[in-house]
Amino acid sequence: MRNEIVNLLKKENKLSDNTIDELKNINIDDFSNIVKEIGKEETTYIKADEISKDLQTEYIGKDLYIYNEVSSTNTLAKFLSMNGAENGTVIISEKQTKAKGRSGKSWESPLGGVWLSIIINPIVDYSKLPLITLATGVAVAKTMERIGVENSEIKWPNDIMINGKKVCGILTEAVTKFNTIESVIIGVGIDANLNVTDFPEELQEGTTTLKEELKKEGNENLLIKIFLEEFEKINELFIAKEYEAILKEWRKRSYSIGKIVEVREPFNTYYDAYVLGISKEGALIVEKIDGTLEKVISGECIIKN
Ligand code: BTN
Repeated sequence: MRNEIVNLLKKENKLSDNTIDELKNINIDDFSNIVKEIGKEETTYIKADEISKDLQTEYIGKDLYIYNEVSSTNTLAKFLSMNGAENGTVIISEKQTKAKGRSGKSWESPLGGVWLSIIINPIVDYSKLPLITLATGVAVAKTMERIGVENSEIKWPNDIMINGKKVCGILTEAVTKFNTIESVIIGVGIDANLNVTDFPEELQEGTTTLKEELKKEGNENLLIKIFLEEFEKINELFIAKEYEAILKEWRKRSYSIGKIVEVREPFNTYYDAYVLGISKEGALIVEKIDGTLEKVISGECIIKN
C-alpha cells in the first residue's frame, strides 16, 4: 500500500476522493495518515532536522513534510490542508513531476531546486490574496539578501529576478468552501543548486540560479530555514493589516516600476504602458500611451525596455 501511495503522489494532478478510491480498501483518513508518514521518512538532501535546527519561527515550518518526488507540492498541500494540516505546515519535495506555474503553465522542478508550499489558514477575503503573494515575494527577496545576493528584485506580481533573469516563482492558490477561503497555499520555487543548462533550452535565456549567481553550491536546508523565518515575519505584518509596510518593502525592490511593459490581462487585448507604481490592493498602476491610467489586477507584464 505504501508504494502504491508513493506512486500516486508522483503521478496525480489532483488528489481527489476518486483517485484515492482507485486504491480500494482505504479510507481518506488512513490515506492521509500514510501520506503524512511518508513525508516524515528520510530524503536525500532536504533534511527536516537541518531546517528545524535553530529555526526562529513560532508556527511556520513547525510541521514539515518532505518527499523525494511528488507531482506538485501545491497539490499535496491542498490535500493536506483539507485533511487537518495545521496553519504553517510546510510541504517540500526534492523533485516535482507535474509542478504548476502561474497562468496554467507548467514549472520545471529538477533535483537541486527548492520546491515548497506553505499552508496558511488566514481569515481573509479574496481581495487580500494579491497582497499575500506580494508579501511572499518580499520574503524571498529578503532571503536572497541574507544569503549574499544583494541585487534581487521583484517583477510584478511575484517573479524574483537577479540581473534581469528569473530565479524564483510564486503560485498562490486558495482552498475554498462555500465560497469562503479556508486556507491559502503559497507555492515557492527557487532555482537554487542548479545550472541554467538543467532547464529546457527555451527557458535558459530568461532563467538564472543561485548557484550561478553566487558562483558556488549553497545549502538548500539553510535557504529553506531562512525563507521560513522571513515568511513568518512578513505574514505577521499581513495579519496585523500592516499592508503599507509590506508594499513599502515591495516597492524598494521593484523591478517593474519605471519600465515600459506589454500588459497581458486575461480576456483583454494586449497593450503597452508605463509602470507608475503599485496600488494599496497590490495592483500594478500603469499609464497607457493615450495617457489614461489603468490598474492591472492579474495577468502578465512583459518588460519592453
Ligand atoms: C510561476 O509561474 O512563476 C510560479 C511557479 C511556482 C512554482 C512552485 S514550486 C513549488 C510549488 N508547487 C507547484 O506545483 N508550484 C509551486
